[in-house]
Amino acid sequence: MIRTFAFSALASLALTAGGALAAETEGHVEDIAFSFEGPFGTWDKAQLQRGLQVYTEVCAACHGLKYVPLRDLTDLGYSEAEVRAYAAQYEIYDPDLDDTRPRIPTDHFPESGLETAPDLSLMAKARAGFEGPYGTGLNQLFRGMGGPEYIVAILTGYTGEEKEQAGSTLYENRNFPGGWIAMAPPLAGEDVEFADGHPNDLQSEAEDVAAFLMWAAEPKMMVRKYVGFMAVFFLTVLSVLLYLTNKRIWRPVKHPNEG
Ligand code: HEC
Repeated sequence: MIRTFAFSALASLALTAGGALAAETEGHVEDIAFSFEGPFGTWDKAQLQRGLQVYTEVCAACHGLKYVPLRDLTDLGYSEAEVRAYAAQYEIYDPDLDDTRPRIPTDHFPESGLETAPDLSLMAKARAGFEGPYGTGLNQLFRGMGGPEYIVAILTGYTGEEKEQAGSTLYENRNFPGGWIAMAPPLAGEDVEFADGHPNDLQSEAEDVAAFLMWAAEPKMMVRKYVGFMAVFFLTVLSVLLYLTNKRIWRPVKHPNEG
């Protein structure tokens, strides 16, 4: 039994080392200290707003966010009127009117306009940046799933090489599995102007849009963390109370001569 255990522990260590080596040749996903990470992390609303701007002005040309209700944008600090104005720039076909109308906050973001571009609603959770070496999940345990980091890595991983294959153009990207992606480099730096004068170099834009996509994939992350924290807190208090109660109940049995 112990032998089997020792063997599997050794094997997983060996795999960890092997995985780390393999990951190096596959492209490197840099860990980024996003504000929303860690047990007490919170959204940086200014960053989410910048990310929305990058998404709207660049990514939305091809990609959709069809699972994200527009009204959720109030979470980013926008007023109801601002969200209504934002929604109205996208049209939707309304079967009742048998015509198109501007979207309202209860509608969702549009679907992908380009058929080959995947919907980005859940992308930040669908992709893992830190592959647990051969499924051990160790990296993910310590550094998170790395979905937003993966998105940053893709957006900044272009080498500038292109090739034609089966009638479509592929772009070399050292962080995309396989090395060639069908998405032309969407960002080059200075693609958008931020109202607050925040830096708009490639890395900043990529981080902002990745943070926004993390929010899109899990808008209620802070609520989840809070509930988790309260559950642990409550269970800790309960354990202490039960321990004390237990001591008290058995006291006459353990110390029969006292009082
Ligand atoms: C010109 C159209 C176009 C624009 C603009 C565009 N994309 Fe893409 N994107 C694509 C296509 C096409 C794919 C599918 C690539 C493939 O599977 O090879 C893709 C794939 C992706 C993927 C998935 C990669 C994977 O692991 O499968 C992500 C993430 C992504 N895009 C993010 C973005 C972000 C963020 C922006 C805005 C900064 C953006 N894209 C702008 C066309 C576009």
